Amino acid sequence: PYEWYRTMRATQPVFHDEEQKVWHLFRYSDVQRAMSEYATFSSDPRSTMEWQPEETDPILASILRLDPPRHRQLRNLASMAFTPRVVTQLAPRITEITNELLDKVSNSAHELDVVRDLAYPLPVTVIAELLGIPTEMRADFKRWSDALVSDEGEEDREVLFAEIKSMYGYFAQVLEERRQHPQDDLVSALLAAEIEGQRLSDIELLGFCALLLVAGNETTTNLIANSVLCFDQNPGVVERLRRDPNLLPGAIEEALRYLSPIKAMARFTRTETVIGDQQIGAREVVITWLASANRDESQFPQAERFDIERTPNRHIAFGHGIHFCLGAPLARLEAKIMLGAMLERFPGQWHVPDDAPLQPIKSDIVFGVKNLPLNW
Ligand code: HEM
Repeated sequence: PYEWYRTMRATQPVFHDEEQKVWHLFRYSDVQRAMSEYATFSSDPRSTMEWQPEETDPILASILRLDPPRHRQLRNLASMAFTPRVVTQLAPRITEITNELLDKVSNSAHELDVVRDLAYPLPVTVIAELLGIPTEMRADFKRWSDALVSDEGEEDREVLFAEIKSMYGYFAQVLEERRQHPQDDLVSALLAAEIEGQRLSDIELLGFCALLLVAGNETTTNLIANSVLCFDQNPGVVERLRRDPNLLPGAIEEALRYLSPIKAMARFTRTETVIGDQQIGAREVVITWLASANRDESQFPQAERFDIERTPNRHIAFGHGIHFCLGAPLARLEAKIMLGAMLERFPGQWHVPDDAPLQPIKSDIVFGVKNLPLNW
């Protein structure tokens, strides 16, 4: 898609797709503005609707899709679960899971696939433990989170709906169980939380669980795999990182910029506004292309170059403004621990063999590959 982004930035940076009735923003400054001005660019799809549907879709009731003031209230609650202190405390456990995964790979005869063996199981295990959900549910988690991000048309609608329904069924069961027997986990904490004397609604609780499941899994998997892709395409990087591990956090930031795990987010205009030389009406859908913004030359000199020492690197892979990714510290930590351990365990130059074609994930939202074999 990067070829297309570049053309659009140069020729139609604020583009109206009249057939689909959608606006597209490709420049860094425009994307950043749409994400900052939440009063004009709402995160709630219901802002474009004449009538207000019942709140039946839990994801719509999650902070991702809410505007202030409700957003602020729920976000304050949710952020307690993700303070830097809480996240730092997770490091030993993340290291343990990482080492177990790497041991399994080293002891097995089959070829290493970075996605299947490392990048997928790490975040899903961490989120499951954070939510207090047994790891045996991992296979279901995978199907559910795939179903939530997959494009309609790509797969059978009925099958997708059935998956999503069974996911909410499962979370409802967990919520009920924790309501009866509170434990020391995130779900129990959310159940006990009050905003202005009121508990969260069932829909809000379900939305929160579903959001963590999607937001925290696929994205982090893709960050780890996309980093390996960037390292593979830039010979010498792996050796430099091994020589100076302090460069690793910068390399991960650059991978976030260069191959952003989330390509685009949607906003919905509440009022008329002008962007670039275009007038956008009220109740319009606006797609902000984060992945394009992150390659914008006017923000990043030599934007097409992967430079692990790029400074400054103000990418917006985690978004910007009030919805800035709550899980960013966790995602960064997981990537650092996993990639750091891989650098130690897999000596020499890394090499993605070209005999097995990589399958890109087909999605308008996420950017990543389904498989990533690696030799070293
Ligand atoms: C929001 C990206 C990992 C939880 C966001 C947004 C982006 C993003 C772009 C902003 C959406 C918007 O403005 O509409 C990413 C990427 C990740 C990642 C690229 C990994 C590399 C995680 C993880 C978690 C998480 C690990 C939690 C465990 C959230 C939540 C929000 C969010 C709860 C909503 C915040 C709000 O609406 O206030 N993420 N994310 N993310 N992310 Fe992440």
